[in-house]
Amino acid sequence: MLCNGLPFRSSAPAKIILLGEHAVVYGMPAIAAPIHSLRAYACAGPSDTALSIRSVELDKRVAIDAPVPDDSARAMQRLLQITCDYFGVRKPTGDLVIRSDIPFAAGLGSGAAVSAAAIRALAALFGRRIPNEDLNQLVFEMEKIHHGTPSGIDNTVVVYERPVYFERGKDLDLLTVERSCRIVIADTGCATMTRDAVGRIRQRYNQRQSDTQEAFLRIGQVARDARHALESGKQRRLGALMSENHRLLRHLGISSPELDKLVDASIAAGAMGAKLSGGGMGGNIIALVDRSTVQAVRRALSLAGAVSVIDFVMN
Ligand code: MEV
Repeated sequence: MLCNGLPFRSSAPAKIILLGEHAVVYGMPAIAAPIHSLRAYACAGPSDTALSIRSVELDKRVAIDAPVPDDSARAMQRLLQITCDYFGVRKPTGDLVIRSDIPFAAGLGSGAAVSAAAIRALAALFGRRIPNEDLNQLVFEMEKIHHGTPSGIDNTVVVYERPVYFERGKDLDLLTVERSCRIVIADTGCATMTRDAVGRIRQRYNQRQSDTQEAFLRIGQVARDARHALESGKQRRLGALMSENHRLLRHLGISSPELDKLVDASIAAGAMGAKLSGGGMGGNIIALVDRSTVQAVRRALSLAGAVSVIDFVMN
């Protein structure tokens, strides 16, 4: 059992990027939403030995003060260190276990969710509280280890668990969704690291700056228009903007045949719009549907090769 005997428990949600990924790294606005039903979990409890972290998925245990064999163990150890530094805990003891239902390397924010859940469970172990603002900052530090140059959108949506309109360096901007949106998420089954996708875009930016910048500006405008559509309940408009965003991401070279196939299948089955979500090059697509089309779109996505299909309501 994950939490056997460990009393301090926490969790954090997966996320989708509704619009604006990649361009957000370069200062454009983007919109993200939590998936409350898909989560990462952490539990912590006291022990007599140096604080350690165990990942169920990686089947790995790392102590805060022991040498680490590889990058993933180093990242796990860093999570313990930055949390203890924040709380000013010296010579910490205890056990922390992390587990995630969020697919890894699928653009759904598994890294940020695991970090947020783990830090909250450690805070409880130390008998302390951590404001969301500070938690957001610590998870952002972890995101830098996982992704290199994150914009900060993933940690923000995962920590606040609300739809956000995000622009680098601006204050927190939580979104009010006028009409609930039903979103289908379908996984290509092709794992990709966000770090690699961000690196590919960086290379393109360095080689073809004006064309890349032009696409970013258009994506930024799409995100601004989408905010308006969300706040005024115009779902058809929102769907059209999502599809436009996908075309721009494809132009930037970050889609894949598998992603395009799922996007096309969902539109053919009645979705109002669809796009890749997250880093791209693999991972997941999202499609905007309503009650009358959700089942047909889900079926079409499975037939088109999606390895998993879920849906959730964004509100
Ligand atoms: C990843 O969920 C979104 C990207 O825009 C990277 C980032 O914003 O840090 C691809």
